[in-house]
Amino acid sequence: MKVAVVGATGLVGKVILQLLEERNFPVTELLPVASARSLGKSITFRNIEYKIQSVDDAIAASPDLAIFSAGGSTSLRYAQAFAERQCIVIDNSSAWRMDKTKPLVVASVNDHHISNEHYIIANPNCSTMQLMVPLAPLHKAFQIKRLVISTYQSFTGTGKQAVDQYEYEKANQTYNSEIAAYPHKIFANCIPHCGDFGDDGYTTEETKLVNETRKILDDPSIQITATAVRVPVFGGHSEAVNIEFEKAYDLEQVLDILKSTPEVILQNEAENNLYPMPLNAYETDPVYVGRIRRDHSIQNGLNMWVVADNLRKGAATNTIQIAENLLQSGRLPK
Ligand code: A2P
Repeated sequence: MKVAVVGATGLVGKVILQLLEERNFPVTELLPVASARSLGKSITFRNIEYKIQSVDDAIAASPDLAIFSAGGSTSLRYAQAFAERQCIVIDNSSAWRMDKTKPLVVASVNDHHISNEHYIIANPNCSTMQLMVPLAPLHKAFQIKRLVISTYQSFTGTGKQAVDQYEYEKANQTYNSEIAAYPHKIFANCIPHCGDFGDDGYTTEETKLVNETRKILDDPSIQITATAVRVPVFGGHSEAVNIEFEKAYDLEQVLDILKSTPEVILQNEAENNLYPMPLNAYETDPVYVGRIRRDHSIQNGLNMWVVADNLRKGAATNTIQIAENLLQSGRLPK
């Protein structure tokens, strides 16, 4: 199978290449694509060196699968050209997520949204992604009425520039606007500003959580409000989630559902100081859930804490899982 990875030199792109290798995805020809800045460089995949190529060269090579992780504008500009050649595109950017004609898919949650006429499949935003894994089965059981989400998002979610900013500030203890991805120092700080501000005062990350959750869970009636915060943390995004269900629940039922949900690992033992933390989620695929407790201030309320490696399940892992499912269903050649 000919596979193009657009954004192969980026943070998510690198994890995608690593996972294609780790999970033995049947790539017979790799087309690593990056910006003009990287032309002439190479990357190593399965001990073979591949030269970075341009998007146009990759389109001309007519791959079977193109995985995009190079920002929204690159996806908007080039994804259709791949799709027109019957190449399936799995896109990590926000370009197509809210397009009614494109499915927005969390593997194991709503794979059924993909049908044979879909050539562009959107991968959700990292914060939404990890949340859907434990929320989907709880929604099915007790019907979510309202969600209040507070995120503590790793700077790695912003990409290479943010990592460079963090490393610079750690070494020099000073902010340098010339290289910064953020308008403030991220080292030893928390920035309540993820993405861009909209007219209503919410940031794009907060709005994505609202809109993408409704689309994935197929339920526009869920009331959602969010605050997204960037934190100087490697390894994963953390989320404090307050849920109000329509139906009454029993805490044991919630725990049983989460225990039997694939990809969820319960870390819910207060007596042993066991709860999810990004340090432990780092470089792993599951979504970790803990601090599960009843919200005594409302009827049918529940609080929990959800952590996952934002570059793995929040981005690259889900992309590969979607591709694996397409392979299983025969849409990609074995
Ligand atoms: P490059 O390394 O040449 O800049 P990150 O999200 O970590 O910042 O990475 C973004 C990825 O998207 C990088 O691989 C980057 O390549 C790639 N990229 C950015 N702009 C383009 C473009 N116009 N065409 C192809 N790849 C691009």
